[in-house]
Amino acid sequence: PGKFATLGLTYDDVLLVPGPADMTPEEISTRSRVSRNVSVNIPLLSAAMDKVTEARMAIAMARQGGVGVLHRNLSIQEQAAQVDRVKRSESGMVTDPITIRPDASLQEADELCGRFRISGVPVTDAAGKLLGIVTNRDMAFETDRTRQVREVMTPMPLVTGKVGISGQDAMELLRRHKIEKLPLVDGAGMLKGLITVKDFVKAEKYPRAAKDADGRLIVGAAVGVAGDSYERAQALVEAGVDFIVVDIAQGHSKLVPDMIAKIKANHSGVDVVGGNVATRDAAQALVDAGADGIKVGVGPGSICTTRVVAGVGVPQITAIYEASLAAGPAGVPVIGDGGLQYSGDIAKALVAGADTVMLGSLLAGCEESPGELRFINGKQFKSYRGMGSLGAMQTRGESRSYSKDRYFQQAVNDDEKLIPEGIEGQVPYRGPLSSVVHQLVGGLHQSMFYLGGRTVEDIKRDGRFVRITAAGLKESHPHDIQMTTEAPNYSGR
Ligand code: XMP
Repeated sequence: PGKFATLGLTYDDVLLVPGPADMTPEEISTRSRVSRNVSVNIPLLSAAMDKVTEARMAIAMARQGGVGVLHRNLSIQEQAAQVDRVKRSESGMVTDPITIRPDASLQEADELCGRFRISGVPVTDAAGKLLGIVTNRDMAFETDRTRQVREVMTPMPLVTGKVGISGQDAMELLRRHKIEKLPLVDGAGMLKGLITVKDFVKAEKYPRAAKDADGRLIVGAAVGVAGDSYERAQALVEAGVDFIVVDIAQGHSKLVPDMIAKIKANHSGVDVVGGNVATRDAAQALVDAGADGIKVGVGPGSICTTRVVAGVGVPQITAIYEASLAAGPAGVPVIGDGGLQYSGDIAKALVAGADTVMLGSLLAGCEESPGELRFINGKQFKSYRGMGSLGAMQTRGESRSYSKDRYFQQAVNDDEKLIPEGIEGQVPYRGPLSSVVHQLVGGLHQSMFYLGGRTVEDIKRDGRFVRITAAGLKESHPHDIQMTTEAPNYSGR
């Protein structure tokens, strides 16, 4: 191929062709893989951006059946603490419960409960032997906060369960004794876990939640390749992250495979995704480095200016397709990152070759995204910005920004000298994530029924595109009418 070899297509250039459907809509499954060993029940990831994914969004995403990727524009400790918050938030069983010593003060117990948003903690000795439990109820009527935990706790013998107890048996114990927390102990009385009634309630409320083998919500987190990125990856793994995303804007840099290989060599239990790439060769380089997933997208994002500032990128449908040519045969899942505007774009990404998609602007307006609501002329907005925007890369007097190495500018010390590749702005407030996801996944279900696919694999294999013209795109959107009522899944072009 010469210099002008290929035509690049994106979401608006194509439509999916309807196919025969020999099933009912109820038979449709949206389950898919993020990486070799991490699966989701809906093929959606929230973007690793500081206005999209912190612990609260990651928890909400996993409850809905997808997964959040925690951004890295913050210190290593803070990012690792967020992983910890997600992993402890809801689970069949907490394997490593927060505990307190008997000689701690009530003040300290309060602070602990507040920090981890829990209503009580098991009390253990230095060796981990269970001595009792202290809950908000035990502490509520104590005015002297310097008193010790041992004075107000419910001491042993407590109602406890044996390690390995079934969910049903645990629920039965909680119900019979009208208690909210069931500590799990081994034969020597050592605390080995905790089951709480709240987790059962949540399990019923979020039946589609994406969980790990221990019943904990799954979560991913981004790292870079520069400076202390490897130490960051280590801290995230220690905090229990399910997959790491080695995430820089130029994923075809040799530094990405190097970082993937280093993490994988030292941490066999965690999946490592690499990106971002936009070509078959770049995807192949990541496959060869042992990547467990490949993230695709150079410049399609709503806040990106890479394609104008650098003149670089590949329209997203083509980029996903090209990357899938390398990833597919190797059994490595592809994440289509950025550029999705409507629910229909999800199925388009999957048919092009992605296994999941990553969303920024579509989720930045949710209640669970970081940042305050802004009122402007009676309308509600939330701020959203590119991680390569000036605002995200500026140090603002702090010792460092953690975002600029995504755009290879970690060595730029003067904010005035930064070359931004993104913009800052706002998106309409969209309410809770659950209703946004309901529309997005509802749209995907419709796509799958139109295509006649029961599974993501089915539409990836059998889906076909038709290329459309500007007239076709005009025909696709509402036309020749003035919209008077906003639809929950369409806000105009
Ligand atoms: P959407 O379209 O969902 O895109 O808002 C989110 C994705 O955009 C990427 N991203 C950027 N790309 N400059 C870029 O060129 C930026 O400042 C920037 N910030 C984020 C990223 O891949 C994200 O998931």
